[in-house]
Amino acid sequence: MADAAFDVEKIRADFPILHQQVNGQPLVYLDNAATTQKPNAVIDAISDYYRNDNSNVHRGAHALADRATVKFEAAREKVAAFLNAPSARQIIWTRGTTESINLVAASWGKAFLQPGDRILVSAMEHHSNIVPWQLVAAITGAKVEAIPVDANGNINMLAFDSMLDAHVKMVAVGHVSNAMGTINPVEKIVTLAHAVGARVLIDGAQSLSHWAVDVQALNCDFYVFSAHKLFGPTGLGVLYGKEDLLNVMPPYQGGGEMIETVSFSGTTFNQLPYKFEAGTPDIAGAIGLGAAIDYLNGIDRVAAAAHEQALLRYAEGRAHATQGLKLVGTATHKTSVMSFLIEGAHPADVGVLLDKQGVAVRTGNHCAQPIMDQFGIPGTVRASFSFYNTFDEVDRLFAAIEKAKTFLL
Ligand SMILES: Cc1ncc(COP(=O)(O)O)c(C=O)c1O
Repeated sequence: MADAAFDVEKIRADFPILHQQVNGQPLVYLDNAATTQKPNAVIDAISDYYRNDNSNVHRGAHALADRATVKFEAAREKVAAFLNAPSARQIIWTRGTTESINLVAASWGKAFLQPGDRILVSAMEHHSNIVPWQLVAAITGAKVEAIPVDANGNINMLAFDSMLDAHVKMVAVGHVSNAMGTINPVEKIVTLAHAVGARVLIDGAQSLSHWAVDVQALNCDFYVFSAHKLFGPTGLGVLYGKEDLLNVMPPYQGGGEMIETVSFSGTTFNQLPYKFEAGTPDIAGAIGLGAAIDYLNGIDRVAAAAHEQALLRYAEGRAHATQGLKLVGTATHKTSVMSFLIEGAHPADVGVLLDKQGVAVRTGNHCAQPIMDQFGIPGTVRASFSFYNTFDEVDRLFAAIEKAKTFLL
């Protein structure tokens, strides 16, 4: 089966890692929600940087330092344009989504939360969008509350609306659930939360690899993501924030780069974005992310998203026809994530048997234990498709599931 509108083989040629054997079989990589693979353009940009330009940024008075700084700041501009942020000053480099959320929770939270304030997160959040809020709640006397999620994996918007009052100071939700693929109605969530004066943080770890996001149109206060889930390198993330908020937030960490002057009688802090970037940053990582964004800008993303949706529909159709397979997460709007269980088999055992056949999936609670507890399951098997996956690979997945069943049941 082929998708006429999208030349998947041409795309696959850009991703060298896909062309290998695992356990004697051609690799079928279906773990894209955990991390995406990297195109040659990203691998080359990182190795070119280390071969030709490596230097520390901002403070050097030599050619390499200048080149490194220009490339590093150009990457920040690319991220700003990619998100349609008003300015590159609002793009803060972090180590990942997790650190971006911790930064906001620690900096904004400690400065602005008080006893009795409420922080709302959805019941399907990744642990990294729960625990940082619990940590700051313990310090400030605020409370973290879960927005209910229904049996299909949709946020209960009526319940959310009824939870909102003037004590709600932060609403932190994922744009897309990593465990189930649910696309949350973040536009509505932002509007409703702002109506009671709450700030909104959107965890974009699972969205940007599927479509472009316009943070100004969305009007969220903070948007966060990880480079490695966007075809870029590990170790780098982004925090976008509204400028007035970032300006009034205290620094998160202290050190070099984030200061203006240092003395024992008092230290003054650098301007945005550097106020939040203590220490030597991940220069190569930022350049790699810039290359990933260039790569994405060079492909037809609408056709890529349509291809992913076609893969999901095909896979879910095959899932319905597979005896003993139960889908977990059947929300109205979903990205290309298929979480499932095989009746009578532990997800971890299914994962091992699929791996033996060259099929890479993720198993477990996907760092979303509360929603797994709500469903009364230890976890799922998760196949997550990217635009470089093929219909043949979906067939390989189902052939491998059938074979696994003969061992397990
Ligand atoms: C929805 C979501 N939020 C946050 C994270 C954490 O991302 P990272 O580990 O890159 O910081 C993930 C990673 O799986 C995720 O899927």
